[in-house]
Amino acid sequence: MEKQKAKHSDYPLQQILKWNAAKKLVMSRLEIIHDDLSLESERKIIQSITGRIKSEESVLAKLKKKGYHASVFEAEDYLNDIVGVRAVCLFEDDLYRILDALLYSQEIRIVKIKDYIKNPKNSGYRSLHVIIKMPVVLAKKQHWVTVEIQLRTSAMDYWAELDYQFRYKKTDKRAEAIGEELKKYSLLIEEVDHKMIFLRNQIAAMN
Ligand code: GTP
Ligand code: MG
Repeated sequence: MEKQKAKHSDYPLQQILKWNAAKKLVMSRLEIIHDDLSLESERKIIQSITGRIKSEESVLAKLKKKGYHASVFEAEDYLNDIVGVRAVCLFEDDLYRILDALLYSQEIRIVKIKDYIKNPKNSGYRSLHVIIKMPVVLAKKQHWVTVEIQLRTSAMDYWAELDYQFRYKKTDKRAEAIGEELKKYSLLIEEVDHKMIFLRNQIAAMN
């Protein structure tokens, strides 16, 4: 506890406990979905599940960027992604099967679905985002905690990682050309992701 207190100096400890609990609950829901879908399809559906609590520094920077004059104590009212969980899969169609399973999960309230796979961002960013609310019971009280779930293929994930590195280098004179090139590769990745599903199905139908 002392270590967490030092890391999140102004974050109230009860909040950290609550966010951590929500992160764990969503990650374990995704693990259960993985087990269920993997059994059904006889292959490994999710490659990795990761979760993070946004640092106090990033929370303050984002509030400022969005023009809110709020403290970390009120940040939850303005930001959806203080708690973030990401699942990475090999195949794009599996992302929608996970979404379906989340829709069937009674304990979860779906707030918003942002489909940046069907409608990629201007940068070329592609992923399926699901904003949910999850009940967390602590000190005999139930709290609804917002969690941003990002569902991506491995290819979308490595594209986003590189784009993330690029995000902080936009003042460089090569930025425009690199940005264009990244966008082009986002389209290539889309094509490869679709071809891999086609091949997967062909291989599954082979003797
Ligand atoms: P952010 O302020 O970027 O969080 O936007 P938002 O609150 O309107 O939500 P949005 O769905 O646009 O983005 C949420 C998250 O998706 C971000 O925090 C990133 O993790 C990821 N993301 C969105 N756009 C991009 C992008 O262009 N490149 C990369 N690498 N990640 C992105
Ligand atoms: Mg974010």
